[in-house]
Amino acid sequence: MITSVLPTYNRAPLAFVKGEGSWLFTEDGGRYLDLGSGIAVNALGHAHPELVKTISEQAAKLWHVSNVYRIPEQEALADQLVEHTFADTVFFTNSGTEAAELAIKMARKYWYENGEPERIEILTFEGAFHGRSTGAIAAAGSEKMVKGFGPLMPGFRQLPFGDHEALRAAISDRTAAVLIEPVQGEGGIRTLPDSCLKGLRDLCDETGALLIFDEVQCGMGRTGKLFAHEWAGVTPDIMMVAKGIGGGFPLGAVLATENAASGMVAGTHGSTYGGNPLACAVGGAVMRIVSDPAFLAEVNRKAGLFRQGLEALVAAHPEVFESVRGQGLMLGLKCKAPAADLVKAGMAEHVLTVAASDNVVRLLPALNIPDADIAEALKRLDAAAAALSGHAG
Ligand SMILES: Cc1ncc(COP(=O)(O)O)c(C=O)c1O
Repeated sequence: MITSVLPTYNRAPLAFVKGEGSWLFTEDGGRYLDLGSGIAVNALGHAHPELVKTISEQAAKLWHVSNVYRIPEQEALADQLVEHTFADTVFFTNSGTEAAELAIKMARKYWYENGEPERIEILTFEGAFHGRSTGAIAAAGSEKMVKGFGPLMPGFRQLPFGDHEALRAAISDRTAAVLIEPVQGEGGIRTLPDSCLKGLRDLCDETGALLIFDEVQCGMGRTGKLFAHEWAGVTPDIMMVAKGIGGGFPLGAVLATENAASGMVAGTHGSTYGGNPLACAVGGAVMRIVSDPAFLAEVNRKAGLFRQGLEALVAAHPEVFESVRGQGLMLGLKCKAPAADLVKAGMAEHVLTVAASDNVVRLLPALNIPDADIAEALKRLDAAAAALSGHAG
């Protein structure tokens, strides 16, 4: 018999009732070190006092009003994002998927309004993940996600990841946009080298194609910069943000230059909930904390500490691990043993990680994870690896 919850997830037999910092608690008092953060969502850990205070105060004042009215909390968060990024304007969504939908629509509308309505093709990359809507699965194009859901939205072409020559051959003055994650998350923590992002920007400039970055997973301080593309010193025309920006409250955004957004006039897009006062109050608090250079410096210091420990872990368990990858606190353990087995072994040691493609285990801790919790995480991952190799041997 089907469960009352549609069974689209293979869920672990764990349920949490409370969170505090980097820790999650089960009803029977079990304590788990959370290195998944709801898949890069709880950027400031669980129950961060400032976020709790912000959401409680806002909840007592006003939860929701329609976007047919001005929303001061939304305007304030948009101002913050514009101040700290390449963007001139922002649309708020409830999720990364909805941000993907708008990014696609915005790019196509741009060319429509610029007298090239046939310019609809969007180039994407193998291993990409942009969400689960029909548009987002067509964009990513992975067989697992699209099978049985056709006909797919036309106009997407997937290219090999990080292959500049393939991109050069595919892009032309008929390309509407190129859509890419600067660091692939679901694809296995695969970082696009800075030189590739720069080359990509140049090709877009040559052809006029719009450049869209999907920073849903790698943005909001995750890599040690507010947004991952800052490492390469290039900016997109459009950017998708979600996950960390709400600190756990559903919130996403599309950021764009004035030029790229020029087709999106009144009546062309909307959302009932997107950017409501509750979400934007929380988003504003997250942005205030994460955009502080001192906070980002700490993310980088912690990332260095964690990475050093992970390199030692990999060296200590060569039969389990191949390498460490990623940037900042968006880290991946490329495994030799099945990644899913390591996630399970971690759970037995009360440390929570997330599997990704390419046989990688993702480590996406809270950006403010205390040093002591990093040390504890390394200890528990070491025990998990030992259990796994003992088992394998
Ligand atoms: C890079 C990227 N884009 C888009 C999405 C979709 O976001 P959401 O699940 O909030 O719709 C995700 C989610 O994992 C993601 O990692």
